[in-house]
Amino acid sequence: MADTKKSIHGEWSSRFAFILAATGSAVGLGNIWKFPYITGENGGGAFVIVYLLCIAAIGIPIMMAETMMGRRGRQSPINTLQTLTTEAGADSRWHYLGWLGVVAGFLILSYYSVIAGWSMAYVAKAFIGSFSGESATTINALFTDLQASPIEQTIWHTIFMVATMAIVARGVKGGLEKAVGVLMPSLFFILMLLVAYAMTTGAYMQGLEFLFKPDFSEMTANSVLTAMGHAFFTLSLGMGAIMVYGSYLPKDISIAKTSMMIAGADTLVALLAGIAIFPIVFANGLDAGSGPGLIFQTLPIAFGSMTGGWLFGLLFFILLVFAALSSAISLIEPAVAWCVEHYDIERKLACIGMGGITWLLGMGTVFSFNEWSGMTLFGANFFEVLDYLTANIMLPLGGFFIAIFAGRVMLSRHAQEELAIENKVLFSVWSFLVRYVAPAAVFLVFLNVLGVFGVFS
Ligand code: TRP
Repeated sequence: MADTKKSIHGEWSSRFAFILAATGSAVGLGNIWKFPYITGENGGGAFVIVYLLCIAAIGIPIMMAETMMGRRGRQSPINTLQTLTTEAGADSRWHYLGWLGVVAGFLILSYYSVIAGWSMAYVAKAFIGSFSGESATTINALFTDLQASPIEQTIWHTIFMVATMAIVARGVKGGLEKAVGVLMPSLFFILMLLVAYAMTTGAYMQGLEFLFKPDFSEMTANSVLTAMGHAFFTLSLGMGAIMVYGSYLPKDISIAKTSMMIAGADTLVALLAGIAIFPIVFANGLDAGSGPGLIFQTLPIAFGSMTGGWLFGLLFFILLVFAALSSAISLIEPAVAWCVEHYDIERKLACIGMGGITWLLGMGTVFSFNEWSGMTLFGANFFEVLDYLTANIMLPLGGFFIAIFAGRVMLSRHAQEELAIENKVLFSVWSFLVRYVAPAAVFLVFLNVLGVFGVFS
């Protein structure tokens, strides 16, 4: 019965539309802002290898699992899990997994919006020519000033949240597909340009070496967890975002192929961002481990000194904001879809409620960089606690249960039918990865952080 059902929220117009939307969700601040700075904080090459392994062995199979479950359930993740659980005759408590995802989505969007706000602030700075000919010191000060100002950050955070909710209110399938199709290739083009600039800095090889030459002595248990958590974060996995997008997916589409394409594009963007950023870091004597400000303290240096830098800088930050927008909408869509289903209310109303809560929570992140910077838990401020809790704990945990559900709770026949993998060997590989590899990896990395093995501690 579930086979013929369509989502009440509509459907993607084509396979390409789904690929664009899911890529839009995956490619975002995670690739351009977060990947470089956590790579810098965790020592480079070895971290990148663990991250790539996690994308291949955990990320892609779980992306297939989420898409497949969404397409079979055809509703918000919470209700999809309910339906699939009933279908499989399993314990009804599985739908709490949907709730874990909704909460993770709120928490992530709350700080995501603040960082996207920084990117908007940089659009304005680029426009008035704040970077041109400036030294690394001056450019650094632009960032520290922004971080110190709750008012400036609140204004941008508010604008970003309103923009996000305005798009979600219209339904994520409307203009979005078209916009992403133009924006992604443009972003890619500017990243290539930045890579070309990086080659002229004199520290290009040093940057590449940092990114790709592994030194496992730099790895700690927490670095491994961060790499794994980031594989989930960057592919938008573990909280139902891809599941809800999968629920709008028409029947006849190969989930395996699309998942690999999305993961491939996402990884490429992250690596390009790293290749562009680290040479600038080393050429200017900056600290690779300086934290969340890294791209804001490095890329403006490039824009300030290259020909046409004003235009490219402006375009880059505009594109970054759009990349963030197309990701942000997927963070809140599971919650909004659930509200519409559960309370039978209009999308617009659901958006105002959900957006309001997220905005308020985001104020905690705004203050964590100034007024509340002294308020810490285990040495981490509010933003850092949220980031650790969501990316390193909630997403891997969500992914763990999604893998178990797709591989062990759902009937294998149903999974195979949805995935439509004709090739028996390929299906067995997927099955093996979600049944054993992904859950075991998450479990072992968690245990290792708890100090059970003392490997990489
Ligand atoms: N993947 C996005 C990025 O890299 C962020 C994101 C969007 C996300 N939806 C998500 C992260 C769902 C985790 C879960 O910027």
